[in-house]
Amino acid sequence: MKRRSFIQKGCVSLLGASASLLSACAAKTAALVVDVSANNELLVSPSAFNQQQTVLLEHPNNKFPICLYKGSKGAYTASLMECTHQSCQTEVVGEQIICPCHGARYVLSGEVVKGPALQNLKTFKTRVEKNTVYIELGEA
Ligand code: FES
Repeated sequence: MKRRSFIQKGCVSLLGASASLLSACAAKTAALVVDVSANNELLVSPSAFNQQQTVLLEHPNNKFPICLYKGSKGAYTASLMECTHQSCQTEVVGEQIICPCHGARYVLSGEVVKGPALQNLKTFKTRVEKNTVYIELGEA
């Protein structure tokens, strides 16, 4: 095998491997299906985090899941996984939320760090009561 051919095949193999790793990371974040309470809130047990920083929540009131993030100081942030650029569904990949459509990136608490999106993800109020995290969805 000639050097050029070896390098080309090697690079293609590496690209394939990194794409697999990336999809494996994204696939690790399985969504937890939760019900909406009579007060239009989502209730989540902190044990759902299972030593992860985020939990993806699916619920019947919105087509996009919510990413519940537990910050280092124990504060929770709930972000709608709808990109603020053109409404694609974003994905948690490692330490960021990434939009697969045009590459916007957000930190896990929803602030945009790379365009083309210009606005942060929509977030919902959270509170903790009796060892339960409440996410207030607001008006239905
Ligand atoms: S829709 Fe997300 S970056 Fe364009």
